Amino acid sequence: MDSEFKRTLVTCALPYTNGPVHIGHLAGVYVPADIYVRYLRLRGEDVLFVCGSDEHGVPITIKAREQGCSPQDIVDRYHGLIRDSFAGLGINFDVYGRTTSKVHEKTASDFFRKLYDDGKFIVRESEQYYDPEAGTFLADRYIVGTCPKCGFERAYGDQCEKCGSTLSPDELINPRSKLSGAQPIRKKTSHWYLPLQDYEQWLRDWILEGHKEWRPNVYGQVKSWLDGGLQPRAVTRDLDWGVPVPVEGAEGKVLYVWFDAPIGYISNTRELFPDDWEKWWKSEDTRLIHFIGKDNIVFHCIVFPSMLKAHGGYILPDNVPSNEFLNLEGDKISTSQNWAVWAHEYLRDFPGKEDVLRYVLTANAPETKDNDFSWKDFQQRNNSELVAIFGNFVNRAVVLTHKYFDGKVPARGTLEPVDSEVLAQIPELRSSLERNFEGFHFREALKDAMSIARLGNKYISDTEPWKVIKTDRDRAATILNISLQICCDLALAFEPFTPFAAERLRGMLHVGLAAGFDHRPDRDGAAQHTVLCPSPVAGDSDSAAPSCGTDICLDWSMFGSADMLPAGHALGEAELLFAKVEDDAIEAQTARLAAIKAEREAAAAAEAAKKAAPLKPECSYEDFDKMDIRTATVLDAERVPKTDKLLKLTIDTGLDRRVIVSGIAEYYSPEDMKGRQICILANLRPRTIRGIESKGMILMARQGDGKMRFITPQEVLADGSQIN
Ligand code: 2FM
Ligand code: ZN
Repeated sequence: MDSEFKRTLVTCALPYTNGPVHIGHLAGVYVPADIYVRYLRLRGEDVLFVCGSDEHGVPITIKAREQGCSPQDIVDRYHGLIRDSFAGLGINFDVYGRTTSKVHEKTASDFFRKLYDDGKFIVRESEQYYDPEAGTFLADRYIVGTCPKCGFERAYGDQCEKCGSTLSPDELINPRSKLSGAQPIRKKTSHWYLPLQDYEQWLRDWILEGHKEWRPNVYGQVKSWLDGGLQPRAVTRDLDWGVPVPVEGAEGKVLYVWFDAPIGYISNTRELFPDDWEKWWKSEDTRLIHFIGKDNIVFHCIVFPSMLKAHGGYILPDNVPSNEFLNLEGDKISTSQNWAVWAHEYLRDFPGKEDVLRYVLTANAPETKDNDFSWKDFQQRNNSELVAIFGNFVNRAVVLTHKYFDGKVPARGTLEPVDSEVLAQIPELRSSLERNFEGFHFREALKDAMSIARLGNKYISDTEPWKVIKTDRDRAATILNISLQICCDLALAFEPFTPFAAERLRGMLHVGLAAGFDHRPDRDGAAQHTVLCPSPVAGDSDSAAPSCGTDICLDWSMFGSADMLPAGHALGEAELLFAKVEDDAIEAQTARLAAIKAEREAAAAAEAAKKAAPLKPECSYEDFDKMDIRTATVLDAERVPKTDKLLKLTIDTGLDRRVIVSGIAEYYSPEDMKGRQICILANLRPRTIRGIESKGMILMARQGDGKMRFITPQEVLADGSQIN
């Protein structure tokens, strides 16, 4: 890799700590980031991988209120669960910090204070929603109402979860407090705003002109924000959970969560390297990459860079890869409706299959458009791809070497065309892999890696060393030698995607891995700078002997060489690389989802029923039969003078011509009614209304919202047709 940078800082969006992470988070942000980091480390790059918990924000306080505990209790509960889920899936951050830490509070406060002192904020007094019952301002998600864009009735003050629109509380129709349900009042308050419009031209130059290579979804979103014109953005809130605003007279105010959270990347780096953090954030030798979710684009491409620019001295991201959304079994993933596959539950239900989830989420990654996860596809990809192709090939190569050559790599003899052809394809696939990794096209990169496995599998199937051995031992030796070299290619190619399997494969091949730098702290908590397994090939002559206990450390530069394993090298024990996923495991998952769906549908039906008027007491058929209901046509219609609601309708009942006075004037004009066929209760005792004798009643349907419509036959019938 020809990089002008000395090091790469990779950050992953800090997850909110109010619930576990699910496959949508993993596919969108964390698995791709880990793939990228592992790839860079394979190339010997110096990479720092930073993440942590985003522990402020209104959703956490709402959850705490719901559960009758403190926000700290909530974040303490989920911080460990999320961190362990990532680790369980092999997503190994160098540091996984918390925005409730002291280091973060100081870093975020100092950052705000510098902008404040440098006059980078404007102060604005405005009227904001306030809950008089709860005695608090209603920031962001404390307020709900109807979305002005799609009509969803439970949109939040900052976003509509149905249509994804970014909202402000003032846009909500019929706003109400999430805390008490009360109708909020308007109350004056002051806040600090970052005047984003001042950064508009700079953002245009930097991103729209300077980063045309960013993913189209990211670039497009940035362009549409900039084209829409930027507005000042409040960076403080009236809340009691967050980093206090470090300014006199700002009691009861905290930094807006989206002001403090991205600073968390910096704080977490400081946490790891208290004395040496600046080289990661302030040196032009560092390349910064933010992996984020689609709903975070504006904050990472517009707001945070403007904050960094306002502050000065910081580097800016070189790329901000963001995926689209992953759906589950055709429906949008929803935390609140439990429509998700939770990472910690997956790890519990599928021990030893961490790689399978990583593989399936990458194969289906929503890189360019929303994509779907289904359990059938999960099973199919495991059984027909990982087991049947990758695993099968490796297994045959290693087991046959044990069987016929005592577990030692046999010597290669003269190559036949089939051998040369297969060997010639590997460097091409390696180049494609590199292009795809470096362009953040991980789905395509996985296809390249899988192509190598397919190639190997086809090679060994076509050349049939288990048959050849009977007649030509040297030829079988050549085939297995080549197959084992391809296994080494696979150990390199799959290390970023399926690291657990890659490690097992290295064990079978009895090789180590020279895998760049890892900055994870040692047991005493001090950050170290470790080369995972120094290799002579990496040219690190000062480093200690390989720590993997083998003579050979695979290195990316060896990829595609036919000489990674010398003849006579002793292999490790053969073991299964992947095991099948059985039907019952899939059925258990689909049954769980079916139960959730059934519950959700029952709740929706109950909700809808609430809107319909309650059922009247039971009546007998005789009661019903007494009613003479018929079709009739409106001949003439006019308003009843001096009333708002009444129409006088002259109708033809098929039996007679008569007048009905009906209270439908607020729904229909006389013109609407003339000539229309309607249904009437014909034998209702006549009544005199406003001096007019009304003989009968028009049948109307009333919706839950009170709106009324007359009932009309689907096709015009003879007047006087009886309805029963
Ligand atoms: O969307 C989220 O889950 C946010 N907590 C991401 C924050 S990213 C960064 F700014 F910390
Ligand atoms: Zn909406």
